[in-house]
Amino acid sequence: MTRNVVISGGGTGIGLAAARTFAADGDRVLLLGRRADVLERAAVPGALTYAADLADPADVRGVAGFVGREFGAVDVLIHSAGGNGLLEPPAGGDDPLDAVARHWTVNFRLNVLTAVLLTEALRHRLAEPGGRVLFLSSIAAYRGSGQVAYAAAKAGLHPYAHDLARRLGPHGITVNVVAPGYVEDTAFFGADGVDEEHRARLAAETSTGRVGTPGDVAATLHWLASPGAAHITSQIIQVNGGAERGH
Ligand SMILES: NC(=O)c1ccc[n+]([C@@H]2O[C@H](COP(=O)([O-])OP(=O)(O)OC[C@H]3O[C@@H](n4cnc5c(N)ncnc54)[C@H](OP(=O)(O)O)[C@@H]3O)[C@@H](O)[C@H]2O)c1
Repeated sequence: MTRNVVISGGGTGIGLAAARTFAADGDRVLLLGRRADVLERAAVPGALTYAADLADPADVRGVAGFVGREFGAVDVLIHSAGGNGLLEPPAGGDDPLDAVARHWTVNFRLNVLTAVLLTEALRHRLAEPGGRVLFLSSIAAYRGSGQVAYAAAKAGLHPYAHDLARRLGPHGITVNVVAPGYVEDTAFFGADGVDEEHRARLAAETSTGRVGTPGDVAATLHWLASPGAAHITSQIIQVNGGAERGH
């Protein structure tokens, strides 16, 4: 059965890998992100694109209208939009407190507000039964990351997902969170990624002896969206090669 799949942050990294996985199954995919050129360059066969800042309610209303016109119902909603804020424009001025306020606000907007606004805008369109909502958290939500605002923002998604699972469960909709460890080949760490030494350290933290790939996370999202995962809800699935336990 062809499904309608909405993927925020679908133009790069994990969201793009997920888009390719679902499109390869014959599903109809809508890619969302702020940069139209990035979405267009993603070149996922048959995918629709819509550029929007998902932390902005007006933009999200635009997405909801587009989804209503193009899809009607949404079978799978994947929230891959996010980031640690380091690539966003800095606070103006020199006051350190302004910089702290800006950093925490940016992280909340990127990681929590994007997911919450899009969910609330599309909730009534989720397929009943069978709908799937999937959030992207992080290993940082469990153990910090040096970017405390990012870790806290990701952790904030967990109770939202649990609450949503309770609200939507009676409608046959599951809600789960995937929390990756370090994943390479994404835009998360900027154009240069992490340096070799840092990458080797991150690989050494795992039990598998390697860093994660966007495909690792996409495969988990695809599994959680499958009919066979219908009784899995309100879970946080860690995809980190065992790194969270530490070494
Ligand atoms: N890479 C890792 O090691 C890692 C580890 C754990 C968790 N994660 C999480 O996994 C998710 C995917 O990240 P990724 O690694 O694939 O990084 P990525 O390549 O940077 O993807 C993030 C995407 O989110 C979009 N985005 C950011 N803010 C947005 C907004 N306000 N509205 C709409 N779209 C927005 C970005 O596009 P635009 O800039 O064009 O909007 C970008 O395509 C994120 O939530 C991230 O926190 C990543």
